[in-house]
Amino acid sequence: MLKVRDLVTQFRVDDHTVYAVDGISFDVQERQLVGLVGESGSGKSVTALSILNLLAHNGRVVSGDIEWQGNSLRNRSQKEWTQILGREIGMIFQNPQASLNPVFTIGDQMIETIRLHTKCNKAEASEKAISLLRQVNLADPELRMNDYPHQLSGGMCQRVMIAMTLSMSPRLLIADEPTGALDVTIQAQIVRLLASLNESLGMSVLLISHDLGVINQFCDYVYIMYLGKIVEEGPPKLIFESPQHPYTQALLAAVPSVHSNHTYSGMVVSGEIPSPINLPTGCRFHPRCPFAMDRCTLAVPELYPVGDGKAACFLVESSN
Ligand SMILES: Nc1ncnc2c1ncn2[C@@H]1O[C@H](COP(=O)(O)OP(=O)(O)O)[C@@H](O)[C@H]1O
Ligand SMILES: [Mg+2]
Repeated sequence: MLKVRDLVTQFRVDDHTVYAVDGISFDVQERQLVGLVGESGSGKSVTALSILNLLAHNGRVVSGDIEWQGNSLRNRSQKEWTQILGREIGMIFQNPQASLNPVFTIGDQMIETIRLHTKCNKAEASEKAISLLRQVNLADPELRMNDYPHQLSGGMCQRVMIAMTLSMSPRLLIADEPTGALDVTIQAQIVRLLASLNESLGMSVLLISHDLGVINQFCDYVYIMYLGKIVEEGPPKLIFESPQHPYTQALLAAVPSVHSNHTYSGMVVSGEIPSPINLPTGCRFHPRCPFAMDRCTLAVPELYPVGDGKAACFLVESSN
């Protein structure tokens, strides 16, 4: 139902162009939980913001298309876009505390959001708020309604943000690093919550993370992103058990739980992600790739089919 094709999003900074997203295609189908993974700076947030038409003023979608339920979202008025977003696509961010207003209680904010989207009186909205908080497994929801955001932990605030987003019954929830600011056990709980809402409500989820460890068996399909491009995609079994792209292998090696006794445990991505202003020639990963060949410095590999997925690497092409 969400279909992104050859999306190119760039920013202007002084006289430079930042090639933040450079021709990516992906799908999120009805009821699917899809992962989008890549280290910081690879263009994941810019992808999400492009979909939601929330780019900073110096950025724009240069080409490509974004389709929602069969209709192109490009060249829509801001009003049409907002109507679709408000009702059908919800988004939660990394820092839930910052998304909540510190001077109002959780209850006030939930009630306001609910009344913005549904016609009901205050008492009905309050009841709805409590049931939504219960749905996201927040303990003692009646009591939490009277709390201010600073009285809740980061994980609790993220549950509140999810509950608020659910109040508009979105068809798709985009979760951009929803667990980034939380500790590991809480991270797992939030991801499990998103997976259970995906299951019980049939709400599609696009889960974005820099950590392959967060994207796990719950996903139906995973996209790996590096410097503005999708370098590998496939079902989680392929990504976790037989990753084809050296970048995916390195990401996997960085996941502690998978790390031990794993084939890829020796691999590390050395150095920093290059600047998207001066992109490497050929395969963007070649300066950091332990398997780089001459060819990789010259030509850009396309996504070659492999198993149930695809990988943009000449090693895959030649082994086919
Ligand atoms: N408003 C902006 N102006 C210039 N460059 C930007 C802007 N927003 C993002 N970028 C750049 O786009 C690239 C991708 O950023 P982002 O999508 O936030 O990465 P990720 O979410 O994967 O960590 C980064 O190099 C970032 O610096
Ligand atoms: Mg980001």
